[in-house]
Parts: sequence; structure tokens; C-alpha cells
Amino acid sequence: MTQKRMWGGRFSGSTDALVEQFNASVDFDKRLALHDLRGSVAHATMLGETGILTQDEAAQVVAGLEALTGEVEAGTFAWRVELEDVHMNLEHALTARIGPVGGKLHTARSRNDQVATDFRLWVRDETHILIGLLHDLRAAFVEVAERHMSVIMPGYTHLQVAQPVLLSHHLLAYFEMFSRDAERLQDSLKRLNVSPLGAGALAGTGFPIDRGRTAELLGFDAPARNSLDAVSDRDFVVEFLGAASLIMMHLSRLSEELILWSSQEFSFVTLPDSHTTGSSIMPQKKNPDVSELTRGKTGRVYGHLLGLLTTLKGLPLAYNKDMQEDKHGAFDAADTLRVCLRLTADMLPKITVNGSRMYGAAGRAYSNATDLADYLAKKGLPFRDAHEAVGKLVALGVQEGKDLQDLSLEGMKEVSGLIEEDVFAVLKLEAVVDARNSYGGTASGQVRAQLEAAKAMLGGEDGHV
Ligand code: ARG
Repeated sequence: MTQKRMWGGRFSGSTDALVEQFNASVDFDKRLALHDLRGSVAHATMLGETGILTQDEAAQVVAGLEALTGEVEAGTFAWRVELEDVHMNLEHALTARIGPVGGKLHTARSRNDQVATDFRLWVRDETHILIGLLHDLRAAFVEVAERHMSVIMPGYTHLQVAQPVLLSHHLLAYFEMFSRDAERLQDSLKRLNVSPLGAGALAGTGFPIDRGRTAELLGFDAPARNSLDAVSDRDFVVEFLGAASLIMMHLSRLSEELILWSSQEFSFVTLPDSHTTGSSIMPQKKNPDVSELTRGKTGRVYGHLLGLLTTLKGLPLAYNKDMQEDKHGAFDAADTLRVCLRLTADMLPKITVNGSRMYGAAGRAYSNATDLADYLAKKGLPFRDAHEAVGKLVALGVQEGKDLQDLSLEGMKEVSGLIEEDVFAVLKLEAVVDARNSYGGTASGQVRAQLEAAKAMLGGEDGHV
């Protein structure tokens, strides 16, 4: 290995082979190649416009970069580990193609502002892709919620049956979570979308560059105000991983419910064959692997967030090589989220809902006890006394192996004389659900309003990005 280093002027000895490998990032940062080329085109254009390069030089450089873009897109570009990273591979190839003028591209630029620029462009693209995938997932929740508007299921607290709710209400709770996720990503763009290009190594440059122009060419809102911060800042990656972690947490909670609901004990849903797998030993098995893997991969994405926060902790300003470690986790998180969001959105509409099973479970375990207490309270009994009376009726039911609505009127009257024949209508599941007509509640009118609001929200968005 006698290749002359792009930074080799002051060196007389050669780099240790293991150090070379250890230092190199091209194996993974080549993923930034198109963003790097885009950044370079903007930089070269600005160098030409400001007269730092002649118009002719700039045009040659830009044409060379465009040819390289074609090679990268075609997958024919040959990456070389001895050229260390994506930036030097591309710059080296540029000079090899167009001659010494290629060496002028790096005027008034450092790899420090270059990598920060590339990575921002990449995170920006991924952020838009995730917002689009979240849109599809949220649309799937709306579709399934609309299809099952009349299905009543048990609502839980402590995973104990609490009060009946509409399945659609439950599904639309996930719509809310994933809407917040999309909003969070959208919000992160305003901090993400500033340009580090032109910050140089850390202190700016003596060349009369136009940072506003490169920012504009790259679709950034503005140049970063402080050059030291511009090259040191990886908050945008932390925010991306933070948003990614929340999305995974939401997907994981959904996955856990699907795993539970598809178990023999619950049998609330049947997962589609297309998104389940069998066992190599137990012929009867149909396993919820997609949901389990999604739940499992959540830990991995959290790990990337914690990993990057730990890498950044204690770094002095400005750039440090530690920061090269910012990429693996972000790449892996983006890939993980893309596939998990896609699979979940594809699977949801294919799930078979076992409405009668849900209804049966909703009617057991005294899920209408609160309604009986409310009934007594409305007849004038202080709520605390009503609570006590219903507690006694539940105990009676447990003793007789009956639900509240199956107790005899006489039996109930013995506990409270206020109870009349009209109690049975109140105890019906449909009535129990529709009684909760407070804003955001589970009554069918409220859930219908939530559904319409969700549809309006989706309709007002661009949809797939
Ligand atoms: N490969 C480096 C990274 O990903 C690029 C910046 C290198 N800068 C430097 N001064 N060594 O962080």
C-alpha cells in the first residue's frame, strides 16, 4: 500500500494496516454518497459564482461530479478502503476523471463541514420518508376503525377488564400516538434544516464564500450561525433517534397487544397467514413473528439513541473523530423503522377481528359495575354509597357465578331499594358504551367524531412523500 494520502504531505512513514482499517468509514458512509455529491455540486457552483474558482473551472468540477453521480447511481463506482471515507473516495475519483482542477473542489471547505452537511441532508430525506410511512400506517388505523365501528371490546386497566370500549376507539388511540410521532418529525425539521457548509474545519474560511447561496442550493432554510457549533452539532441525529425510539415504542405496544389478542386465551383477532409463520416442530403453530420482531427491534433502536448520546457526552468542541460513530446507529434505526412501519401498515387491514369474542369478553368481569353505581347516584344516592352498594352486588354475583345483568331484580332490590326494572337497559353493553359521551369518550358519536377528525387530518397532509 503505497497510495499517497490526501492528507499525506506532512507524513514520512506509512499508516499501519490495522489502523487504516480502523480509521476507515467508507464501508458504511458510502451510503451518504449521493448527498455528498449534491453538497459538492452546490459548493462548486458557489465557488464559481463568487469568483473563487473561474466559471470554467467550476463548470468542469460540476460536470465531473455529475458523471460520478451517474456511476454511484448505477452501482459501478469502486470504493477503496485506503481512501478512508466517502468524501475522499469521491474527491479522489473526481481528480482522476477531470485532472488537477478536481483538487480545487475542496477550496474553502473541510471534511468537517462536509460530513455535517451530508448527514443533515440524509436525515432530512429519511425524516420525510418516515413521515410518509407514518401517514400510511395512520390511514390503515382509520380504515380498520371505520370497518369495525360497532365492535365492542373490553377496555383494560392493569390488564384487568375495566369498562367496555369500542374497538375503533382503541384503534384510534394508536392514530393519536402515530400522529404525534409524525408531528415530532415534522417539528424536528426546523432545527435540522440549517446548513453547516462553509463552517470549514471549525472557524470559517478566509475565502469570500457565500454561505447563504449554498444553503439555498441545498434547500436549507439558512446557514448555521456559529461555525464551531455547525461542525460539532449532532443534535439532529439525537432528535431523529429520539423520534425513532418513540415510534418504535408505540409500534411495540401495538405489537404486544396483537400478540396477546391473537393468543388462544384471548382469540380477539386472527393474524393473516401472510404476516405469521409456523413452527418447525409443532404443526399447529401460527406465530406472530412480525409483531414479536417489531417489539424486539425496539430495544435495538433505543440502544442507538443511548449509544449516540454516550458518544457525544464529554466531547470538547469542535469536531472529534468520535463523531464518525454517529452513523451506524442512525442508518440501522432508519432501516428498522422503515420495515417495521411498512409491515405493520400492511398487516393491520388484513387482521380478522373476532367481534363476538370481544363482545363476550367485554360483558364479563363486571365491566358495567361503574354504570350501576352511576345509575344509583343519578337516583340521588351519594356516589360513595352507590359504590359500596354495587360492591356488594358484585360480591353477590361472584358468589352466584353471575354477571350484574343476570342477577334477579329482587336480589338487587335487597341491596338497594332504588334499583328498578329500568336497570337492565342501563347495564347493556351498548348502553354502557354510549353513556360515555364526554368529549373524547367511547360513545359511538364521540368515536365517529374522532374518526372524522382523523380523516380530515390525513386529507390535509401531502400523504406519501
Ligand atoms: N469520516 C469522517 C466522519 O464521518 C469525516 C470527517 C473527518 N474529518 C476529519 N477531520 N478527520 O466523521
